[in-house]
Amino acid sequence: MKQKILIFGNGQIGAFYKSHFDKIGVKAEIANADITDLESVEREISSINPDVVINTAAKTNLEWCANNKLETFNTNVLGADNIAQTCDKHGVYFIHFSSGCIFESKDFNDAKKETSIPAPAAYYSWTKVWSEQLVQFNKSRDFKYIILRPRQPISSQFNYKNTLVKLLTFTKFIDTPNTVTVLEDLMEWTTKIIETKPVGVLNVANEGWTTPYKEALLLKKYILPGLPIEKITKSELNKLTPNKRVDTILDVTKLKRLVGKVDSIDQKLEKIIIELGNNLKAMSKEDISLQLEKTIQQSKTRTVVNDQWPSLYN
Ligand SMILES: NC(=O)c1ccc[n+]([C@@H]2O[C@H](COP(=O)([O-])OP(=O)(O)OC[C@H]3O[C@@H](n4cnc5c(N)ncnc54)[C@H](OP(=O)(O)O)[C@@H]3O)[C@@H](O)[C@H]2O)c1
Repeated sequence: MKQKILIFGNGQIGAFYKSHFDKIGVKAEIANADITDLESVEREISSINPDVVINTAAKTNLEWCANNKLETFNTNVLGADNIAQTCDKHGVYFIHFSSGCIFESKDFNDAKKETSIPAPAAYYSWTKVWSEQLVQFNKSRDFKYIILRPRQPISSQFNYKNTLVKLLTFTKFIDTPNTVTVLEDLMEWTTKIIETKPVGVLNVANEGWTTPYKEALLLKKYILPGLPIEKITKSELNKLTPNKRVDTILDVTKLKRLVGKVDSIDQKLEKIIIELGNNLKAMSKEDISLQLEKTIQQSKTRTVVNDQWPSLYN
């Protein structure tokens, strides 16, 4: 693929893209800009001159966002639009990250399509909806963009934001169905999307659903035998967390039409957890504890953490 890619945001998903594109020999750079500053976005895009821009930059911690509304709005909404405006001006294909958490499903049959009406339950999720709207507002007819909606990203990389790594620090797990996005698959889908450059909104998740409880059982089996697992109900969970958590099932019919094969989470989950365990074995104790310490800081704000996670590096 002869495309130059510029990635805004160097967190879990931005860094994953960078190493993916490096691996497949596609030129990709992480932008050096504060996205709330239109001039610095303009400077970065005009000096790199990319064919594609991916925006993964955002404030993503639900609790922090609820307590810092203005800063969150500035980055997640106005910052996203700064990039969209600049891409429109320069004729660059824009890939923007929204989230599947703008929906709440009643059960596993209640799959949300791209055209379903969002019903955010947290301030962070509202900013993702507003970003979707503003990215599409007041642009030229030629503006080419796609808005991706992933849900609960998991991967085999031991990153503090990986949902599986977060679960390794918990004690209480709900058994309610949720859609999940395997980041390794998201990389393949994005590569195909960049080739054809479709325009619109797209749910990006694996087919089917799993539950945090099911994930915890596999994490206990393959990675942390001492993981305490207490099954709790959704209403018990929402008494623990300052901000309500939602269950979301995403319909991936459109994704399958655009990229072809989409593996089901049933096919993938066990394999990803085994690979996560292997990757963990290859890491230094210092790196593991660094990631876990960052996870724990977030986990403490939303649930009861276990006392077993230090055995992952001791
Ligand atoms: N992780 C999830 O569960 C999830 C699920 C669905 C959708 N998403 C969406 O996917 C995207 C990527 O998520 P992620 O997991 O990679 O999040 P992440 O790990 O929190 O990374 C976000 C990145 O954005 C950067 N950033 C924040 N404010 C910025 C600003 N003003 N200018 C430039 N960079 C800024 C952060 O830098 P600092 O760390 O220095 O602030 C960080 O590098 C986000 O849009 C998120 O909303 C995430």
